[in-house]
Amino acid sequence: MTKIIDGKLISKQIKDEVREETRILEEKGIRLTLAVVQVGEDPASTVYVRNKQKACEYTGIASVKIAMPAETTQKELLSKVRELNEDSSINGILVQLPLPKGLDANEVIRAISPLKDVDGFHPQSVGALSIGLPGFKSCTPAGIIELIKRSGIETEGRECVIVGRSNIVGKPMAMMMIRENATVTVAHSRTVDLPAVCRRADILITAVGRAKMFNREYVKPGAAVIDCGMNRDENGKLCGDVDYEDVFPVASAITPVPGGVGPMTVAMLMKNCLDSARIQGIV
Ligand code: GUN
Repeated sequence: MTKIIDGKLISKQIKDEVREETRILEEKGIRLTLAVVQVGEDPASTVYVRNKQKACEYTGIASVKIAMPAETTQKELLSKVRELNEDSSINGILVQLPLPKGLDANEVIRAISPLKDVDGFHPQSVGALSIGLPGFKSCTPAGIIELIKRSGIETEGRECVIVGRSNIVGKPMAMMMIRENATVTVAHSRTVDLPAVCRRADILITAVGRAKMFNREYVKPGAAVIDCGMNRDENGKLCGDVDYEDVFPVASAITPVPGGVGPMTVAMLMKNCLDSARIQGIV
């Protein structure tokens, strides 16, 4: 029987755990606050930001939204980030990406204090993850680790193939799977004979953004398949990178889209906000 990995359920468990922890902090007089900066009015970003604020409400974390116009200059944005760095009432800072044209996201990320970098995008956070030091971890790959662990999927010594090498998913995912003692391969668009490489995987993680690209030809029978894709198929319906119907009968476990990896990102953001108290030495 193929196990469907229920990201909606697991993300709720994590948010409930965070809620319990924030309640305990509140009894000690500590209330955590996340600042979310949105520049411009990209409709998708507005939805993401609203979801983050809703998750904050659910978990008992205060949130402040800082809406800046699309014409904001790099200097103005950097100055806002620095102000939030200095503000002791703010524990986490998140600048919603993508930024409008003309703004340099890398410079903005570098300006965020690593002590408040709840997205885990700062070079210091990425470096800390690579060498096993404490720090914030990128939310989507950290969420995938939770999905794997809470579904009882063994990682120790097993072959993990990650397809995609982005800074936000593929690369940090590789670091985290190494920490879980998996044998890790990172494949990408230039990989020769991608189906054969993917068929080595006991755990296959896809993060390429191409609708239903991975059919059963890419999957070893009994593999666990984790799909980070969020695409639209030819009928405009939400789908992943994996051809779910085709792969389902061969996989031992699989994440659906929607309802798999997607809900984990915000849950792990809440977990990072909670961890900010420890990272900042408040608890
Ligand atoms: N845009 C899409 N996903 C994310 C994310 O996880 N963090 C930020 N800051 N922007 C995003």
